[in-house]
Amino acid sequence: MFSVEGSGEALDSVTQTGKWDFAKIPAKEFENHIERNIPAYGFAHSFVARASDFFLSSEDSVCVDFGCSTGNLLASIRARRPIGSCTLVGIDLVPEMIDTAVKLYGDESIDFRVGAMRDFDEPLDLALCVFTLQFTEIEGRGAFLSQVQNQLKPGGALFLFEKTTSKSGRMQEVFSHALSDWKLSQGYTPEEVFGKQQSLVGVMKPLTRDENEDLLRAAGFSSFEQVWGWGAFVGWLALK
Ligand SMILES: C[S@@+](CC[C@H](N)C(=O)[O-])C[C@H]1O[C@@H](n2cnc3c(N)ncnc32)[C@H](O)[C@@H]1O
Repeated sequence: MFSVEGSGEALDSVTQTGKWDFAKIPAKEFENHIERNIPAYGFAHSFVARASDFFLSSEDSVCVDFGCSTGNLLASIRARRPIGSCTLVGIDLVPEMIDTAVKLYGDESIDFRVGAMRDFDEPLDLALCVFTLQFTEIEGRGAFLSQVQNQLKPGGALFLFEKTTSKSGRMQEVFSHALSDWKLSQGYTPEEVFGKQQSLVGVMKPLTRDENEDLLRAAGFSSFEQVWGWGAFVGWLALK
């Protein structure tokens, strides 16, 4: 466990080795937390929101955010278009995240649901999976991506953003150093940086870029390209 004096975040119940749990972190602090833990997080969302224009052009367009947490990405997408001009759905396993999403951004224009991402089985135009797949079991990821690919209407797309590992040990060292150094610049203490790293052991299971791309290819996406990145963090846009 680490001291919370540095960041001021109340995360002490989830910082033991392998104990990271989204259900135990205060959902109202989540946006502040993720912004300080993923460099260029705001740029990732701003790119996705702008690019969503290509895929949500008609009134019957459907966009689903898998692992939406507090719903801020859907709120950014909503802000770009008239209310009711498409269907926006946010799904998250953790009820506290959805409660907070409803409080912060809830109205009739976004359908926030508590649930597992595999349970959504309706047709869609745009799928968002932003730093979520990395928290799911590796053996189920291919099936999930295939399911999304099948549910996408012709012309639809998936944004997949993940923390990755490098297949090169030296590159991995560079990525780890840069990320730890960035977190220190955000006001975390070395104990907090180490504590978070320990807590994620066995909970967040990143794959390499190649492994993620193999999954996208195997799921049947016709093309995909990297559209965002910072060290080990990579964002792809995959087209049906
Ligand atoms: C790192 S957060 C995602 C951040 C969010 N997408 C964003 O862009 O700010 C991961 C989220 O995925 C949710 N989650 C993890 N596994 C899930 C699953 N199988 N189905 C639905 N949500 C899941 C967690 O509860 C958590 O809120």
